[in-house]
Amino acid sequence: MSITIGVFDSGVGGLTVVRELKRLLPAQPLIYFGDTARTPYGTKSQETIIQYAREDTRFLLERGAGILVIACHSAASTATSTLRQEFSEPIFEVITPSIEQALALTKRKIIGLIGTRATVTSGVYEKAIHARMPDTKVYSQACPLLVSLVEEGWLKARESRMIVKKYLRPLKNRQIDTLVLGCTHYPLLKQTIQEKIGKNVKIVDPSAEIARAVYSYLESKNQLSEKLHGRGDRFFVSDLTPTTQEVVQRFLGTRVQFEKTSLSCRD
Ligand code: DGL
Repeated sequence: MSITIGVFDSGVGGLTVVRELKRLLPAQPLIYFGDTARTPYGTKSQETIIQYAREDTRFLLERGAGILVIACHSAASTATSTLRQEFSEPIFEVITPSIEQALALTKRKIIGLIGTRATVTSGVYEKAIHARMPDTKVYSQACPLLVSLVEEGWLKARESRMIVKKYLRPLKNRQIDTLVLGCTHYPLLKQTIQEKIGKNVKIVDPSAEIARAVYSYLESKNQLSEKLHGRGDRFFVSDLTPTTQEVVQRFLGTRVQFEKTSLSCRD
């Protein structure tokens, strides 16, 4: 039996991570849970985010996930250590692999981070970067409006470009040479972000990094799936509206067959 990867996010943004996982691990069974009824997480208190993340994890494990990927940066930065204490399954999160990549790329040791308020105020990136490379400077910027812009599909709109520019100005002034996209939605704005931060700044896209980390883990355990098993991947959401489908179309360029679920009922 192959190990099933369980992926959760506050909504459908985590599908950017699924897209990369499927690129590297096309036959590995996968279950996704997007907490669309309670999104966004990035504006919530630590306590609430931890409780939601705990429920999301339980949901995926009860449905057979053998390893867990926290695709949501707000949950990863706030709840990872609690989840690791409470659950014995291997837990991957989007932050560590992107930090490794940022440290490998930075030349001047000046790294920028953009994310939701929850992610930025957690201070997790600074702590992890300083533990590995103490003389590195880290500058963070919360960009709460970007999630809504992506969900509206305003990826290239003039207004979005102006907002991105305004958010990035303080990081540009600090002369960062590497920028970490610390939110599931930001890879969709990558082109605008690159244009506004400048072409010499290297951008770290966590969705690609986490997929490589999961691949290496499964390979080391001899658990890479070569052929599809059972009924294939399943995509659960806690609320489903026509807008969810539109947003997903934007994220993946394709439709996904969602199953609506309530976290409290066992279906
Ligand atoms: N998925 C969230 C993250 O990566 C963004 C949306 C939210 O705030 O829930 O932080």
